[in-house]
Amino acid sequence: MYENSKLILESENAPDPGGFTWRSPSNIALVKYWGKYGDQLPQNPSLSFTLAASFTDTRLEFEFKEDTSTEIDLTFLFHQEPNEAFENKIKKYLERLLPVFPFLSQLSLTVQSGNSFPHSAGIASSASSMSALALCLCSLEDHLFGTLSDPAEFDKKASFLARLGSGSACRSIFPYASVWGTTGNVPGSSNEFGVGAEDYLHETFKDFHDDILIVSKSEKSVSSRAGHALMEGNPYASARYEQARKHLSHLIEALRSGDLPAFGKIVEDEALVLHALMMSSNPSYLLMLPDSLEIIQKVREYRAETGHQVYFTLDAGPNVHLLYPGAIVQEVRAFIESDLKEHCEDQYYIQDWVGEGPEEL
Ligand code: PMV
Repeated sequence: MYENSKLILESENAPDPGGFTWRSPSNIALVKYWGKYGDQLPQNPSLSFTLAASFTDTRLEFEFKEDTSTEIDLTFLFHQEPNEAFENKIKKYLERLLPVFPFLSQLSLTVQSGNSFPHSAGIASSASSMSALALCLCSLEDHLFGTLSDPAEFDKKASFLARLGSGSACRSIFPYASVWGTTGNVPGSSNEFGVGAEDYLHETFKDFHDDILIVSKSEKSVSSRAGHALMEGNPYASARYEQARKHLSHLIEALRSGDLPAFGKIVEDEALVLHALMMSSNPSYLLMLPDSLEIIQKVREYRAETGHQVYFTLDAGPNVHLLYPGAIVQEVRAFIESDLKEHCEDQYYIQDWVGEGPEEL
């Protein structure tokens, strides 16, 4: 999409060294993206809440490189320590961006990154980390070429670049909520980048919590990348993509009107369908654990007994997200403490909420 911009620095105008820092949050999908094609394009549109407490801080520093090699020159530090695996991943990502950003091979780059949540918490950090890096790259482009002074253009390009790193990361750029994937329900939506969905939210959803119950801190046994790929042979794939479109349309209605039971029904169906797709892949696999199921049962019982509007969703892993309005935070926290915490590894859970999106630090 941006391949023709060909941003190249003239060596007589070598820029002074500098840097940019962005804080970018994770997001939780309500309608899930599961299945892709081409260059990280989604098989169905998805919608997420942008989180607040789970974020990545990333600083990108640059210096003009004297040599004319076309290689990416990168030093990467994670929580101040060298991390070869992450460095290689980011190097590959930056190499992939060269058609869009040829100037990256003219610079020496240092990237320093750190998460607000413990590294081994079983929380995928790709959405927050890739979006933070994409935002830094857009700040760099704007600094060097003055091409992204329009905030809407800036966000669009950041979302596009984040998507190439990790699909779901493209939704972390926007405050409160985002839609990624072309759909007639959202004007301006695209498979190439996410768009903000704040305007579709009733006030109830702007004061909304997502407490993340960490059932297991271990890395998952099947990566999202492998999971997406297995959708290609899944016998239910086309019915699933159709269902996601319907869910998205109905969810937008529920978000607009503030209809919590309608919201909760779709969100819980989406979570269970995601895992049903894993169970019906070939080979099949399970990422939920017995404690995930215990939590789900207890949440449904609690809702039936108390009438409190608390719903669950799941990512591609065993951890359970509890979604509920700010008005019942005391009650739900008491319920977590008395009934749910015991199902978490080391009784650990993260208190998160729907937030205002990334900020430049
Ligand atoms: O962005 P990826 O490739 O890690 O895939 C994310 C998939 C889910 O988290 C399960 C759903 C989603 O839409 O975020």
